Amino acid sequence: MSALLCPEASPAQRSLLRVLTCGSVDDGKSTLIGRLLFDTHSVPDDQIITLAHDSKKYGTTGADMDFALLVDGLEAEREQGITIDVAYRFMGTKARKFIIADTPGHEQYTRNMVTGASGATLAILLVDARKGLQVQTRRHAFICALLGIKHIVLAVNKIDLMGYSQSVFETITSEFAAFSSRFNYQSVVAIPLSARFGDNVATSSAAMPWYQGPTLLAHLEAVETAADLAQLPFRMAVQWVNRPNLDFRGFSGTVGSGFVRPGDKVTVAGSGVTARVARIVSYDGDLPEAIAGDAITLVLDTEIDASRGDVLAAPADLPEVSEQFAADIVWMSDVPMLPGRSYLFRVGTRTVAGTITKLKYQTDVNSFEHIASNSLALNEIATVNISLSAAVAFDPYDANKRTGAFIMIDRVNNATLAAGMIRFGLRRSTNVHRQVLTVDKAARTALNGHKPAILWFTGLSGSGKSTIANIVEAKLHAAGAHTYMLDGDNVRHGLNRDLGFTDTDRVENIRRVAEVAKLFADAGLIVLVSFISPFRAERQMARELAGPGQFFEVFVDTPIDICRQRDPKGLYKKADAGQIANFTGITSPYEPPEAPEFHVLTAQNTPEQTAQVIIAGLGGLFAGPDAGA
Ligand code: ADX
Repeated sequence: MSALLCPEASPAQRSLLRVLTCGSVDDGKSTLIGRLLFDTHSVPDDQIITLAHDSKKYGTTGADMDFALLVDGLEAEREQGITIDVAYRFMGTKARKFIIADTPGHEQYTRNMVTGASGATLAILLVDARKGLQVQTRRHAFICALLGIKHIVLAVNKIDLMGYSQSVFETITSEFAAFSSRFNYQSVVAIPLSARFGDNVATSSAAMPWYQGPTLLAHLEAVETAADLAQLPFRMAVQWVNRPNLDFRGFSGTVGSGFVRPGDKVTVAGSGVTARVARIVSYDGDLPEAIAGDAITLVLDTEIDASRGDVLAAPADLPEVSEQFAADIVWMSDVPMLPGRSYLFRVGTRTVAGTITKLKYQTDVNSFEHIASNSLALNEIATVNISLSAAVAFDPYDANKRTGAFIMIDRVNNATLAAGMIRFGLRRSTNVHRQVLTVDKAARTALNGHKPAILWFTGLSGSGKSTIANIVEAKLHAAGAHTYMLDGDNVRHGLNRDLGFTDTDRVENIRRVAEVAKLFADAGLIVLVSFISPFRAERQMARELAGPGQFFEVFVDTPIDICRQRDPKGLYKKADAGQIANFTGITSPYEPPEAPEFHVLTAQNTPEQTAQVIIAGLGGLFAGPDAGA
């Protein structure tokens, strides 16, 4: 996500430190940020005059400047309904430039913190000296660790209100050390300070002679960030192939990590094709070198096959390539995550479809407990296995935040659903190959004399799906077609015996039957599928699996009141009496198709008439044995 949710650092910002601030307004976060901006002269004079004026008028600090007003004044930008609510503040000293991400501290804002943390090298965890460590501090420490932030400052604020007490400070720091030892931080520095009075922020405090460490600012200026992206192996995800005329062909993108010079060899991850860099073209002309963060076009000495989404990498140190991996994800959507549902995954510049095949466990952000779970709600964090429809190049997130991060995207509305960190590739996928078979679908189709197809009947329980599907199958059979019927009630007695009616189980139910339908279609049959299949996303998945021209969605549209009257299995009666949970149309949703091939209104037509219409609509399947396998 670092590369995906956050603006890139420009080359001029190489000594830049990205800092995340964690804590709430009550802990003095706004005051601390305001104080840092003020003490580093990062605030224009006119704002200082306004601040002096406002402090007298609205401030909570008597005659002193209320630095919180400085930051909160900028807060107005936040009120514009941006979903992800992070404010970035800029400050600079002679030694370094800083971007400070300021995110709300409450639990429901986990996703904002994740966004603010993208690309951050150091996090300041703010603690109120009067209250000590809070549940929130533990949560922030955990999320920082999850996102690979290696440098932590424990800022023990408001120490003035505790009489600048050394023992208060030491109690808090030793408690923090005890629980944070489980995290793999590179440095943890605790600093006692008073944001309000400036003690140990930019200048050492005379009130705390017992503290020998650096001020906050001195530490921020000095912290070593050795694992800089520029020092990692070269990676560049191709954004587009730049081909303005026949004489020029270059691969454009932003260097994700490492550096590259003319003469260097680069390899396309996956295909393994290698070439040498002939030129590095940029807006400022040809460059002798490009490093992480630079937007460039690479011209190579030979023509190689690479396109958008491919990763160019240092041949001596290639990324992994796999279609399955283990990852941690932070769910950022109000719509729950369901394992088995098809989502888009964007890794670098490549976007591919895939699913969460296994939700291994969810982690409670406050207690760090692992919880068994079969779906994820907003702000929940989980460790999962992912399977993609195509292999992608990546590095584990711990090794490279650029190439190890991904986002999940909703297939229908393109909303960002989750941020993820790849932990490791699952070798399994690379060991399972596809076999080329001698008798293929085209051969089977030719023998059958008709094209295969999937007729997908969807509708409420008791809507008449099975009745209509049965008549259609009988007619097709009588006409000499090879058919097979997959009926929800029957398949749930066998293959899907282990599944119930929760959203997660229904997704898996449909995923399996869609795969089975695909196999039967591959065998050359006309497959009739009769499942409630209440969710659009899974019907869409079944459609894509079937391939173009082979999927016919039949919406058996019967108002629920009629289904209830018919109630052939007595289920509505039970559901209405509260004896069946998650009953479709009553306590579980049904999402009607938007553009089905057949829209059947059963209240107005007999099953026989409907079947006739469907058969007539399928005429194309019998157009000739050789067509469209
Ligand atoms: S689906 O939603 O996962 O597609 P499926 O078609 O397999 O459902 O199974 C639906 C059948 O299971 C219904 O026709 C009905 O006979 C039975 N059933 C039992 N419990 C439920 C329930 N809670 N909701 C819907 N159908 C149920």
